[in-house]
Amino acid sequence: MASLTSILSLLLLVLTATVSSSEVIRMYPKQHIVGSDDDPKCESWKYSVEVNDAGSWNSIPRPCIEFVKDYFHSGRYLSNSRSAAAFSLKFARSVKVNEGDGKDAWIFGVDETLLSNLPYYKDNDFGSKPYNATSSDEWVYKGVAPALPASLTVYNRVKKLGFKIFIITGRSESQRVVTERNLIDAGYSGWEKLILRGSDDEGKKATVYKSEQRAELVKQGYTIQGNSGDQWSDLIGFVLAKRSFKLPNPMYYVA
Ligand SMILES: *[C@@H]1O[C@H](CO)[C@@H](O)[C@H](O)[C@H]1NC(C)=O
Repeated sequence: MASLTSILSLLLLVLTATVSSSEVIRMYPKQHIVGSDDDPKCESWKYSVEVNDAGSWNSIPRPCIEFVKDYFHSGRYLSNSRSAAAFSLKFARSVKVNEGDGKDAWIFGVDETLLSNLPYYKDNDFGSKPYNATSSDEWVYKGVAPALPASLTVYNRVKKLGFKIFIITGRSESQRVVTERNLIDAGYSGWEKLILRGSDDEGKKATVYKSEQRAELVKQGYTIQGNSGDQWSDLIGFVLAKRSFKLPNPMYYVA
């Protein structure tokens, strides 16, 4: 008890000495406690866009452009996509796949899911500018997007587990050949069907178009077990997968 009292008085002495220093008092306002180096604002912004609290958004807020660049350069992006992949595979392994009827389906998106357009976005300020359809199309037609490594792993494992793979993309039917070639060059093979936007789908919101395509698969007797996409519009709407896996993408939002 005596030692506790002496510790307390020593602590009081230290505190008094500290508080009497004008520097410590000036440190009290919040902006000084949260230094610019570890300001959580951009992390909070990223959280809000990833979980869809933010809803639709056009471009990265200017103060967070460097933060997003660092997110990609530091390996946190790859780490987050590996985390999504690990949980996807944990679920995939838990499914009793009926290889007899071959009707257990897994859906993947293309851009920022199977393929990564990071080389394009690195040259275009990581989505800090509004979407440019012309330059984006030019990039797509080059057909050189690499695989997102964690997605290639998930793709190959779910295929091996016996799931039928459907690739549903917002890319248009006119980009079928270049998309197929790009997917094959990136290491993907053996999908059941690659579904692109046809003329009837033009102008449809991604959520509606993708939901309709899932509904069609269900009509054909498939059970949509898993769905992997970087956009909420890949995953929500109607006719949902048993489990949907949101991959990271703090560069752009497709409604
Ligand atoms: C969009 O990209 C095209 C092709 O690279 C370029 O010529 C054009 O200036 C860009 N538009 C804007 C608004 O940056």
